[in-house]
Amino acid sequence: MEVPNNKTAIESNRQAWNDSARHHQDSPDWQALLGEVAQADFSCLDETLSGLLEVDGKDVIQLGCNNGRESLSLFALGARSVVGVDQSAAFLEQARELNKRSPHNAEFIESDIHHLPASLHNRFDVALITIGVLNWMPDIGEFFRHVASTLKPGGKLVIYETHPFLEMVDPDAEDPYRLASSYFRAEPFVQEEPIVYVGKVEQQAAKSYWFVHTLGAIFGGAIGAGLNIAHFREYAHSNREEVYDRYLNREAQMPMCFTLVASKV
Ligand SMILES: C[S@@+](CC[C@H](N)C(=O)[O-])C[C@H]1O[C@@H](n2cnc3c(N)ncnc32)[C@H](O)[C@@H]1O
Repeated sequence: MEVPNNKTAIESNRQAWNDSARHHQDSPDWQALLGEVAQADFSCLDETLSGLLEVDGKDVIQLGCNNGRESLSLFALGARSVVGVDQSAAFLEQARELNKRSPHNAEFIESDIHHLPASLHNRFDVALITIGVLNWMPDIGEFFRHVASTLKPGGKLVIYETHPFLEMVDPDAEDPYRLASSYFRAEPFVQEEPIVYVGKVEQQAAKSYWFVHTLGAIFGGAIGAGLNIAHFREYAHSNREEVYDRYLNREAQMPMCFTLVASKV
């Protein structure tokens, strides 16, 4: 397989996410969200993340914020200010639409995480990364260095992500329980259809590159960026697309997601 350089992969991912935005806007979830965000206590965060996040009175940045629904949810937990960053202009348009309907006011900034504006440096108490962000990053060590640059000394990075073990199985395969791909896979998975969370859309889109990072690489990247790991936990519940629900409640249960908190020295 021809693997593009990191810059090309990030640019292709940007185009793929921009194309994806219209598919998300067509969903009933989007229509519901437009009404829900008008409530001051709106939150789409689940118990795991809400229980872990300590953002009361804090300045928070979410990196890879997509349509901003999670960024806006941080106000219900008491955040003082919220900045959402994403490189997809089309999703940020949706985020700004939600922001208009919300009684709160987040700031949404279009930027590749690898080229954050200096105005975001050393500014935040909490940096949040949620479901489906780490795997778009070709170099996880470099990614963490940029994330750490946004934190004040003593600031915390909070991650709630899907578990890399899941990259070994293919839920759409004939035998979805077969270990189909190496945990240590080096080349990215490449998708040429639009990025949607449910089912498949049979259309051609910009290629999207999904990079597999082991837990060891994630820990090593965070430590290498000067972050001290304070919390790590794995869970049997899923925070992934519905198709992964077939791996729930099995006798031989695999880990489905994890939380990690690390602080900047
Ligand atoms: C799966 S979505 C995050 C969804 C979010 N956790 C939620 O549930 O609403 C991943 C997001 O990461 C963004 N992204 C991917 N690579 C990026 C990069 N290099 N810089 C900034 N954003 C990026 C994509 O544009 C996309 O909006």
